[in-house]
Amino acid sequence: MASNNHFLLMFAVAVLSFLPRTSLSIPFVVFHGISDKCNNKGISQFTSLLSDWSGAQGHCIEIGNGALDSWTMPFFEQTAIACEKVKSMSELSGGYNIVGLSQGNLVGRGVIELCDGGPPVRNFVSLAGPHAGIAAIPLCKSAWFCILVDSLIELAVYSNYVQEHLAPTNYIKIPTDLDSYENGCKFLPVLNNEFHKNSTYKKRFSSLENLVLIKFENDVVLVPKETSWFGYFPDGSWDPILPAQETTLYTEDWIGLKTLDEAGKVKFVNVSGSHLEVSYGEMKDYILPYLLENSIALPRLSKSSHASAWSSHDGKKLKLYASD
Ligand SMILES: *[C@@H]1O[C@H](CO)[C@@H](O)[C@H](O)[C@H]1NC(C)=O
Ligand SMILES: *[C@@H]1O[C@H](CO)[C@@H](O)[C@H](O)[C@H]1NC(C)=O
Repeated sequence: MASNNHFLLMFAVAVLSFLPRTSLSIPFVVFHGISDKCNNKGISQFTSLLSDWSGAQGHCIEIGNGALDSWTMPFFEQTAIACEKVKSMSELSGGYNIVGLSQGNLVGRGVIELCDGGPPVRNFVSLAGPHAGIAAIPLCKSAWFCILVDSLIELAVYSNYVQEHLAPTNYIKIPTDLDSYENGCKFLPVLNNEFHKNSTYKKRFSSLENLVLIKFENDVVLVPKETSWFGYFPDGSWDPILPAQETTLYTEDWIGLKTLDEAGKVKFVNVSGSHLEVSYGEMKDYILPYLLENSIALPRLSKSSHASAWSSHDGKKLKLYASD
């Protein structure tokens, strides 16, 4: 029996290695996080590893000049650029998958929901996405600086000027200042169908085949880290942090998260790392399966065979967080 299985595995490997690589899987695109850019080492390694393992073409899509624009370009603009780019890539026209990293998840979701005439998105794999908002500016390193910045920003976070020049403020949601958020925040309320509902956005988001939400257990960049799973502070208060299923976004199904969840299409994954610190093994377990069309079982088979080169680097970690 064992040799039979072995034979089948060898046969599968042989067959797969004769197929043209691109026929195995549809392409995927990566949207990177804040301060990063596509040709930074972490991002290019991440993209090419996933591409090598899946046999799928992987493209990191740059918005503007990358690092600086990720801080300063308003999100509607970032999303519009991403939308034009995916439409211009003929290789995506038959459908593709999106892998979002941190802030890049909102670009990804913008493409899914807002991009008229864009190619169809099948799976969306989201690592550390600030989906339900954040309540603090990311990347604050030293306490005194953060407090200073925080208080400056808090005064003006929802002013037009700040909204148009500091991209992360487009998804800051201060739970005790929701009136200002509703009137001033320029992107997240639209993306989440919070105040004005657009059924097209919901229809598009609900059409995903899989939504994989990866939360990093030791994430201190996203406040709260539960936002990666669409969890958030309750309206008007700083505690307790609500799980996604208890938020109004979910219960009233503003964007189709509940629809997707009830259809078994949402995978809530937590991993042990800090913000965007992911191991090869975790990439293979939680990202790769969604990049393989027809769920080709090769990685699973290989994983169970001991001592293969495949698994020898599983503990190796990538840090996809530019500032470190
Ligand atoms: C909803 O979004 C679609 C697609 O972008 C747009 O064509 C439509 O005008 C929007 N509807 C409303 C009521 O804003
Ligand atoms: C995932 O979350 C659960 C519940 O909070 C926790 O017990 C578990 O250790 C976490 N798993 C990982 C891999 O971090």
